[in-house]
Amino acid sequence: MQLNVKNLESTDIYKIVSNTVTPRPIAWVSTISKEKILNLAPFSYFTPLSSNPATFLISVGHKPNGLPKDTLKNLRETKKCSIVIATTEQLKDMHNSSSPLEFNQSEFEEFNIKTTLINSNYPEVPTDSKVVFFCEYLQEINLKNSKTIPVIVELKEMFIDDELFTNKENLKIEFINQIARVGAKYFKLGEELEIV
Ligand SMILES: Cc1cc2nc3c(=O)[nH]c(=O)nc-3n(C[C@H](O)[C@H](O)[C@H](O)COP(=O)(O)O)c2cc1C
Repeated sequence: MQLNVKNLESTDIYKIVSNTVTPRPIAWVSTISKEKILNLAPFSYFTPLSSNPATFLISVGHKPNGLPKDTLKNLRETKKCSIVIATTEQLKDMHNSSSPLEFNQSEFEEFNIKTTLINSNYPEVPTDSKVVFFCEYLQEINLKNSKTIPVIVELKEMFIDDELFTNKENLKIEFINQIARVGAKYFKLGEELEIV
């Protein structure tokens, strides 16, 4: 089948891309509002962008009422986020945190997700997080005709659980059991392939 994008709805594009450009990593993003409400939400239109400057890109849509999602509002206002790479043990909490709550409601409170303060300069994260990237808002990309806003955040500090290292001197990290997204489903990574 050959398809021309101009004849498709954006939901059709999403269906095809989200099931073929896979597995997508999930940025589980904790931010804090000016009013000090802690917010948590997953984003799978997420990718590492560059190692120098160390940056990630998160594509943030809008709420059905057209307002920016809380994550974007907070990033614009308080400039910081903690990105957790969610593991399979955190699947339920991660999924729950995608619920569209009111701005003044915290997903942490609503879903009883326990928090840990790992770095006092950045928002708290769910307890037992194994990998956390502490980032600052850098810039937004003005994507012509798009309702989705690609946001670039710069990695400033990070936390890697000691147990993940197989060799600390070489920064060699073991497989971390992270959740992958394919379409709207969740998977865990499978076998390693060897070139024979
Ligand atoms: C696994 C997963 C991945 C998601 N990825 C994105 C994404 O890349 N961009 C986006 O705008 N929304 C994405 N969503 C939806 C948001 O998580 C959802 O709109 C959430 O309510 C936003 O929360 P906030 O308003 O607190 O920022 C995703 C949802 C799930 C479950």
